[in-house]
Amino acid sequence: MSEPSKETSEPQPPTEATILEATEAPVSPAGAKEERAQEPTVEQIAQQQSAAEQATTTIEAASDTHSDAGYESDFESRASTSISSSVRDYAFENGRRYHSFRAGKYQFPNDETEQEREDMKHSMIINLCGGKLHYAPLQNPQQILDVGTGTGIWAIDMGDEYPSAEILGIDLSPIQPLWLPPNVKFMVDDAESPWLSKPNSLDYVHARHMCSAIKNWPKLLSEAYTAIKPGGWIEIQDLQYKMHCDDNTMSSTYDVQKFLGLVHEGLAAFGIDLSAMVNNIQVLRDAGFINVETRVFKVPCGVWPKNKTMKMIGLYLRSVIFDGLQAISMGPFTRGLKWTPEEVEVFLVDVRKSLFDASTHSYLPFHVFYGQKPLDA
Ligand SMILES: C[S@@+](CC[C@H](N)C(=O)[O-])C[C@H]1O[C@@H](n2cnc3c(N)ncnc32)[C@H](O)[C@@H]1O
Repeated sequence: MSEPSKETSEPQPPTEATILEATEAPVSPAGAKEERAQEPTVEQIAQQQSAAEQATTTIEAASDTHSDAGYESDFESRASTSISSSVRDYAFENGRRYHSFRAGKYQFPNDETEQEREDMKHSMIINLCGGKLHYAPLQNPQQILDVGTGTGIWAIDMGDEYPSAEILGIDLSPIQPLWLPPNVKFMVDDAESPWLSKPNSLDYVHARHMCSAIKNWPKLLSEAYTAIKPGGWIEIQDLQYKMHCDDNTMSSTYDVQKFLGLVHEGLAAFGIDLSAMVNNIQVLRDAGFINVETRVFKVPCGVWPKNKTMKMIGLYLRSVIFDGLQAISMGPFTRGLKWTPEEVEVFLVDVRKSLFDASTHSYLPFHVFYGQKPLDA
């Protein structure tokens, strides 16, 4: 039988297992597997243990967070790696390329710049999670579905980690690479249409960073419930795009916060709730999943943390937002809020400045939750 249901909505101190897993070396998007195999130094182990703890409690700020000179170049070169694109379909708007299957459904570009940013986000999350690709307690999974697979980087890593499993990644955009482990496949599909997976066929469904895309979570989770085998798992992971701060260093006029608020508004015009992850825990239960568990991590924005691993994660997040300011805002602001592209560019000037203010100790919560289809379903 399944374990008793347990939920932890507040950040919790890491368990011993979390700490041990967090000792793996920082990974880069393209070389995730190789880098994970390297032996970390004693200092790295200590930094990563401390980072794992701080991610779920309080991030300690460095004594001088006004300047990050010398840090940037060290990490920026490894912060992203280009993945070769095999895109077949394009739609162009305001200088960016968008998907054309179900055109207009997803508000963000699919061009190579955006793909590099998505891979950087993957690396940031994998470092935050101490190398873990999932938290659901999988046991010899055979059929895995990645919903909204993006560049496919998570699916490819999962294929390496579970060589006997078959991983299918679906996405509106055919932007995934052609070089693949033999057990990984990609398919263009709309996750909000009736699912093609057979009932009771999947061991694990994964959806990460999809709150910016999905309109109807109850419907999607109901499709997932049908497709998952009794005893199988679903896991949803998402950043909550609202800046938080634990030490009163974030002003009420923080431009990054204003920016994120407008992205929420712009997506709301398309019926998308960017904060859906806050309620999805209940939606998961309503769909019939049991043994639901949640974890919340703190992702620093900028290089203000003292701990080196957290500092690197903070640089990742700042780069993910900085590099993506135009990509993130153009669709929601012009299509949703009816701004002109020029108005968007002018607005972004102050947001860029405030992103580099290291005296503001801001962070985004990262929500992980998973649940199981009952064995007797
Ligand atoms: C923010 S990216 C996340 C990519 C990936 N899950 C990751 O974490 O690296 C969102 C992806 O979802 C895809 N997407 C958006 N709406 C979708 C839908 N209805 N069905 C399938 N894919 C969708 C987009 O094309 C995009 O590649």
